[in-house]
Amino acid sequence: MSTLTIMPSGKTVEVAEGTNLLQAILDAGVALTSKCGGDAKCGACHLSLTGGRKGVSKMTAAENAKLDTIIGIGSKSRLACQMTLLGTEPVTVELLSAI
Ligand code: FES
Repeated sequence: MSTLTIMPSGKTVEVAEGTNLLQAILDAGVALTSKCGGDAKCGACHLSLTGGRKGVSKMTAAENAKLDTIIGIGSKSRLACQMTLLGTEPVTVELLSAI
């Protein structure tokens, strides 16, 4: 299992390893927009990975390419739809749309 904390609400849930992060956030009852069906095309699921880099899958070429087109990305920026929870360490994300 992976421990996932979703900020700014601070909601923490246990998620089966191998679960897609966007799906895990939605399953936790937290709203996160997805306009492309999780295909790394819309950028709407952009968030900040603030803890647990080793607890999620590495960035894919498609994710990196889409992030390059988004204004205001930072070193912790990721696309939730392209990430898988690995269960190796607790993960904390900050939903940017909620800021
Ligand atoms: S849902 Fe569109 S890029 Fe993630």
